[in-house]
This record gives sequence, structure tokens and C-alpha cells, in this order.
Amino acid sequence: MDKCEDSQLYHPSIHQSSNPTIPFLVSWTRKHLLDIESLTADEIVTVLDTARAFKAVGERSIKKVPALRGKTVINLFVEPSTRTRISFELAEQRLSADIINFTAEASSLKKGETLKDTARNLEALNADFIVIRHSASGAPHFLSRVLNSSIINAGDGAHEHPTQALLDTFTIRERKGQIRGLKVTILGDILYSRVARSDIWALTKLGAEVTLCGPSTLVPRAFEQMGCRVTHNVDEAVREADIINLLRIQHERQRKSMFPSLNEYSSLFGLNAARLANTKPNALIMHPGPINRGVEIDSAIADCDRSLILEQVTNGLAVRMAVLFLVNGGKGPQEVAAG
Ligand code: CP
Repeated sequence: MDKCEDSQLYHPSIHQSSNPTIPFLVSWTRKHLLDIESLTADEIVTVLDTARAFKAVGERSIKKVPALRGKTVINLFVEPSTRTRISFELAEQRLSADIINFTAEASSLKKGETLKDTARNLEALNADFIVIRHSASGAPHFLSRVLNSSIINAGDGAHEHPTQALLDTFTIRERKGQIRGLKVTILGDILYSRVARSDIWALTKLGAEVTLCGPSTLVPRAFEQMGCRVTHNVDEAVREADIINLLRIQHERQRKSMFPSLNEYSSLFGLNAARLANTKPNALIMHPGPINRGVEIDSAIADCDRSLILEQVTNGLAVRMAVLFLVNGGKGPQEVAAG
């Protein structure tokens, strides 16, 4: 069955305007956020527009809204995280949810309990939402089939990291005005990167021209099937780019060394001052973090005024508020603005 036809992916109800004479066009009806691949461009834009409304809420003196009052969110992080975990937790607080933070190291997963049993026990505590990060690709999809809670993917193995892609596209759209027609280069370890996969889906669906670059062992030509260009020439990849999105080497997922040394990687593919000098003057630098200074990016470039790295983190809060709001049945940005 096509993923989009799976009834578990959808809320059973059709949203309607509070005023029955005005049809309310809603492009978000999903119960879960599992990936970007199955989203339509309209659904992505709905999240971005809703996030923009929540960013405005964050600029008010009272930043908290009651959207998730009485709802319980469990943050099930079975793999390390700084940005995503804290950002989700703050988003849940801003939406007035009750929050349980699950720590894998201190849990019965260490005693051999399966993910399914752990998650079913969490659901037995009436969890409405489970935000999951897991090293196994497909773990969120699996939970969406065996639980009734809404599942949000906070990164599954090398598969997808949908909220990262949404915050990346939000940040690009905010800075550049639109995504369509932009040249975006993603440079680094593409093969093992869930961020790369989610970014490719989001950016190509919204009309960007995506180029992938890195060592041939980490950027195989097979990625062209996702609708992007592959090159192993870094100078050519960055020269015409409007956005240069750098990725770290995902050592934790590589079973063997994919290049001779970090020094060699840095000199052949790292973004340094000489390479930056050959980019467009208004090209912007992004990185999902954590950054490895001196490897994929020179330290001074990470902190320069063309770097959006911390802006991405700031925008992640509004994007995650939007995602939680929408999977809870929120209708869209109009409802946030009215609240
Ligand atoms: N970008 C990102 O996913 O960072 P964390 O691993 O710290 O959550």
C-alpha cells in the first residue's frame, strides 16, 4: 500500500471552518510526521506558514499558548541529541503540554526491553504524542503502526530528519524570500545523513536546484535519482550556490573508513576562506549541527555574518511548535494568528 493511503497517517475527521459559509482550505490532515518524502509541497508550505505565525507568537511578551493544554508528550530519545531534544521540549512547554523526557541510558531498554514494549508502556500512560529519535531507520514508522499515539520523527538512523529539513527550508525562505529557483549545495557526508535526505525531499519539492558534493564514497551517483545533481568538484559546487549547507562526517554510522584522514577531508572538501572567496557574495552558510570546527567548516566561517547556523536553531523552535500544533489537529496559520 502506498504510504499516503495508510489510514494511520491521517486524522479521521475533516477540518471545517468555524463559519460554515466560508470553506476552510486545509492542506494538513496528518496524525503523524514521519518523513518529508510522503509530504506534498502544499503540506510543507502549511508547516512553514504555521511556523511563521508561531515565530511571531515568540516575539510577544507572553510566549505561551494553550494549544496542547491537557495533552501529554513523551520525548523518546534513544540516540544523543542537543538541539532537537531541547527545541522539542521548549516547543512543548510553549504549547502548554505535559512533558515526559525519556532517557534511554536510565531505562529498561538497557535490560533488554524492546522498543515496541517500551513504547506501549509509554502509551499506557496516555501519551498523546511520542517524539522519537532512534538509530534504526523506520523506527517512527514502526511505532505509528503499533501505537495509537501521534508519532513525530526526530531523526531515524540515516533515513530522515523531517523537522530539520522544515527548519532549514523555513530559514532559507525567510532569508531569500522563496525556495523556487535557488541553487542549494549540500556538501559533506551525504550517504549517512538523514538531514541530507530530508533536505533533498523538501527543497526539490519546493523547486530548488540541489547539488550534492563530497568524496565519491560518501556521495554516490545513485542520489541523482532523488532529483539532484552530484559532483565531486567542491569549487564548482560552491561557486554558483545561493545556499551552502555543510554536513559533518557521521562517524557513528560508518562501518569502515570512507576516506584516508580527517585532514585530507578538510583540505579537499572543507569550507575554508579560499573556497568562500570564490562563492557568490550573498551566498549563505548553513549547518544542522553539531559542527566539527576545522573539519567540514573553518571556525571563523562558522561564526561569520553569512552563517545561519544559530538562526537555524532559533527557527527550529517555531517549526516544532507548528508541527505539534498541526498533528494535534490544528488547522493552519490562520488559527495561530487568531489565538
Ligand atoms: N541537528 C540536530 O539534529 O542536532 P542534534 O543531534 O543535537 O539534535
